[in-house]
Amino acid sequence: MQLSERTSRLSPSPIREILRVIDQPGMISFAGGLPSAASFPSIDELSVRPELLQYGATEGESALREQVAHDLAGRGLDVSAEQVLILSGSQQGIDLVAKLLIDSGTPVAVESPTYLAALQVFSLFGADFVSYQPSNIEALRQTHTPNLVYTIPTFQNPTGHCYNLAQRQTLAKVTDELGCVLFEDDPYRDLVYDHCERTPVCSFIERSSWVYQSSFSKTYAPGLRLGYLVCSEDLFPMLSWLKQAADLHSNRLSQSLVLSMLNRRDNRLAEVVDSYRAKRDAFCQALEQTLSPYCTWSVPDGGLFFWLTLKDPYVQDTGLLLQESLKRNVAFMPGDPFFPQSEGIPACLRLNFSHASEPEMKQGLSILSELISIAND
Ligand SMILES: Cc1ncc(COP(=O)(O)O)c(C=O)c1O
Repeated sequence: MQLSERTSRLSPSPIREILRVIDQPGMISFAGGLPSAASFPSIDELSVRPELLQYGATEGESALREQVAHDLAGRGLDVSAEQVLILSGSQQGIDLVAKLLIDSGTPVAVESPTYLAALQVFSLFGADFVSYQPSNIEALRQTHTPNLVYTIPTFQNPTGHCYNLAQRQTLAKVTDELGCVLFEDDPYRDLVYDHCERTPVCSFIERSSWVYQSSFSKTYAPGLRLGYLVCSEDLFPMLSWLKQAADLHSNRLSQSLVLSMLNRRDNRLAEVVDSYRAKRDAFCQALEQTLSPYCTWSVPDGGLFFWLTLKDPYVQDTGLLLQESLKRNVAFMPGDPFFPQSEGIPACLRLNFSHASEPEMKQGLSILSELISIAND
């Protein structure tokens, strides 16, 4: 048997490996970006129309595509329903865009750190990473011109950072000038706790090709596996054909369910946001009481994560810290897999605050603090 050349770059997602253990009884998880189970919508009223059991259109159900286009117009992104491709989770958008634009050695610009499962997919297709910081987007002009710029400008995973207006406009301008494709990944934008600029960067693009995507995982339920992308008209046919090749179309029951929830226009999302804001604040307070001697962090204005940097000279091997904390039933994500480079990485932890209850947060963070202090004795 001869495996394809790209399988030499295939590796399991570290996060999915850690998620395997979080169902163990008593485990406190700060690891995955798991929404709180209490936020899931009730689905009693789901009535299955028989036609939904038939094969459907690759692009998605037309009523859902229209609704998505309408909502995007409210965000400043003026697109038609014909530019909307419903996805089987926004992770699928990352795979489709990578297939479309990345060959072995293709330069791809990413924030450092960035979403580890995007790095995993881009690496599989052979990306050569160029990294940039939201504070220094202009530096992209000095690099080997990327074919693709991947960005999570709103409540970034893992840092929680949100680009200001000037940074958004600069990123669009630099992309236009370099003639590369902008790929904006925006699954957290509705989980907003404090005022933050959220206009899509793609809305400022004048010439370049672009893809914008979002997800129903964080606001409705990840098990539905539903997201969408919209893109400049030149890219749409090819992305749609790649989706045909991947899975023909997304699950029609999930699409119908999400559409009926979007049409409800109730206060559910506002209530979820309020409860996550309270969780973020409680987490922040617990962090102050436990980890402030050892770590620094910024309070995120939205999203699901705190990103902690360990102060020198405390623990520098966060992988070892994870092994010890799993023995004490606490899971978190070490920072290393979020970096596109392997050298000169600061010791960081990504902690999710939406999943654990308040007492679990306090207990889990105390255990982490204890382990860090023991490791430095
Ligand atoms: C930045 C980012 N993009 C994409 C995804 C994939 O989300 P999904 O496939 O559930 O829509 C995630 C999930 O955590 C994410 O954080």
